[in-house]
Amino acid sequence: MDLFDSILNFVVPPASMIMMAFAWPTLSFIHGVEWVFKGLYRENMENKVVVITGASSAIGEQIAYEYARRKANLVLVARREHRLFGIRENCRVLGAKQVLIIAADVVKEEDCKRFISDTISYFGQLNHLVNTASLGHTFYFEEASDTSIFPHMMDINFWGNVYPTYVALPYLRQSRGRILVNASVESWLPMPRMSLYAAAKAAVINFYESLRFEVKDDVGITIATHGWVGSELSSGRIMLEEGAEMQWKEEREVPLTGGHIEEFAKMMVAGACRGDAYVKNPSWYDIFLLYRVFAPDVLGWTFRLLLSTISNQSARRPSLAGVGSRPLLEPAPARKPPLAFSPASPLQQQQQQQKNE
Ligand SMILES: NC(=O)c1ccc[n+]([C@@H]2O[C@H](COP(=O)([O-])OP(=O)(O)OC[C@H]3O[C@@H](n4cnc5c(N)ncnc54)[C@H](OP(=O)(O)O)[C@@H]3O)[C@@H](O)[C@H]2O)c1
Repeated sequence: MDLFDSILNFVVPPASMIMMAFAWPTLSFIHGVEWVFKGLYRENMENKVVVITGASSAIGEQIAYEYARRKANLVLVARREHRLFGIRENCRVLGAKQVLIIAADVVKEEDCKRFISDTISYFGQLNHLVNTASLGHTFYFEEASDTSIFPHMMDINFWGNVYPTYVALPYLRQSRGRILVNASVESWLPMPRMSLYAAAKAAVINFYESLRFEVKDDVGITIATHGWVGSELSSGRIMLEEGAEMQWKEEREVPLTGGHIEEFAKMMVAGACRGDAYVKNPSWYDIFLLYRVFAPDVLGWTFRLLLSTISNQSARRPSLAGVGSRPLLEPAPARKPPLAFSPASPLQQQQQQQKNE
């Protein structure tokens, strides 16, 4: 490392912290004024067209109700069509103008093309795209017995955002519309047993942060991050080690609502209509970003302490993060033995050959 970088390594972090501390009151004031100003000129969604993926449960469903209250036209997308019928009726009662339901899989690019082109054929425009389709998991990485689930997690949680966005962008540019993205605090506060989900969510954030620069002011992007709220994802709709989606029937078919979900959906739609770049709930979780950058050891020690405390107890304990009845922090699984390589592997044969020569 050259001397210049070594000096900057010492000088820049503390200097930036001091500068931030002084700038904080001014920045807060600017944000406050901006918040009031945006509130006065928030987007009127009446007769606008909103596509919502993952609308068949929890957050997606509640977001649909929020847009319905704002008298928007809705396109509800999910794979379980039977759930969308009831949600469509609720949306109509709440004030939605027209509601289309489309059974589609966001992992399939063809399906994404279909629901966006159906939207344009029917309504002639698209104003907001809301991506909520997702699937979580609560297994240790080493517990996975089938590696085909790895790309599957990425497919739903990452590509399931990218495909609809790619197809919708030309129409969103035309309408100077907006994309509302569901990320998670997991992106910068990864928890054990959620490695693939956390990685996918981090990829989602970086993808949209980058896209934000590319689309400039033509298309707005609102990234929502939140901790655990009651939903299918946090109450049992998770992926097992074998890759089969959880079928906790009694939970899966129960309509899930709850103060937190409704409240958060309200915050997200309000934020999107105000043109906010971020909606955070709770926003104090941001502080963990600072720890990650400036004091990662502190986070590491805390997690290790939590894990060791829990692994010393033989019985399974409820999750610290509130994932329904499934504990998040559990004793780590027994390590798998390393893969055995045959002594006559091609690499060793080559090495032996080279030695002999
Ligand atoms: N709940 C939380 O605590 C929490 C915390 C942080 C972030 N989030 C994020 O918030 C968003 C919504 O979460 P949620 O809690 O509402 O989850 P959820 O209840 O499990 O809902 C997920 C939705 O995605 C749909 N979906 C899944 N795979 C799909 C696919 N391949 N194609 C189309 N739709 C698909 C599901 O419908 P079908 O099965 O009918 O297709 C369902 O409507 C997610 O992005 C999640 O990561 C949630």
